[in-house]
Amino acid sequence: MDALELRDLAGAVANDIGAFLLAEVDNHNAGDTKSSATDFVTAADRAAEAKIVAAITQSRPGDGFVGEEGTDTASSTGVTWIIDPIDGTTNFVFSHPGYCVSIAAAHNGQVVAGAVADPLHQQLFDAALGHGARCNGQPIRARATTDVGRALVATGFSYDAQRRQRQAEALRVMLPQIADIRRMGSAALDLCGVAIGRVDAYYELALNQWDLAAGALIASEAGAVVVANAGDPGSNPSSEDPLTFAVAPGIAEAFQALLRRSGLTW
Ligand code: IPD
Ligand code: CA
Ligand code: CA
Repeated sequence: MDALELRDLAGAVANDIGAFLLAEVDNHNAGDTKSSATDFVTAADRAAEAKIVAAITQSRPGDGFVGEEGTDTASSTGVTWIIDPIDGTTNFVFSHPGYCVSIAAAHNGQVVAGAVADPLHQQLFDAALGHGARCNGQPIRARATTDVGRALVATGFSYDAQRRQRQAEALRVMLPQIADIRRMGSAALDLCGVAIGRVDAYYELALNQWDLAAGALIASEAGAVVVANAGDPGSNPSSEDPLTFAVAPGIAEAFQALLRRSGLTW
């Protein structure tokens, strides 16, 4: 298993599928909804997932897949790909900036490589475990801030109305304590935003593994402090929903205290 090879394959495929999305974005209808009336899925989500699986299988037969649109195949090589064919589907549906292709590779359960392609902005974020994070081939680092009171913080909201209520309450406590909030609409790009210093921190409840697998590796390889889907109800009764966050190292402690004050535990 060569993590750099997996990273480069993830990046090449993510870029190709990103180009497909760019060609489709103004050319589709809203399609169906999934878990709730606001959880959109388009034909492009399904087509993109099928193309990703076909392209990777051609290079690496035997690898397994877990994809948001239903792909679930076992691995005979120890490598399993975790795919979000469009992260930021709501943006995609509205032709709003902020959608991407997210592809990660896990080896025996540990994410070792990942790529996130933002076709509109022509940016490819990638990382391999122990080899740092990059944007378009250049190394990237989380911001060197030390003041949580001046932090620009990204978050996201669930498709579930009840969970949104809880997220709004947390935000009510958080917002007066930081510089400002951004809700950009793609968890994968939010994590890459921490990695490149476009925001100082990102947090969200109840992500799926395909939302965060690539982005969490990219953020942590860029020096951010990352906690991915911690505190699931089975392991931590104080938390209803697992919490994910990534934060610039200089404000990690203060930000974690703020999360707790906002009622988000893990
Ligand atoms: C969603 C986006 C969004 C986040 C949601 C995710 P999707 O993924 O990442 O920013 O807030 O939690 O489900 O549905 O666009 O793939
Ligand atoms: Ca997603
Ligand atoms: Ca998706």
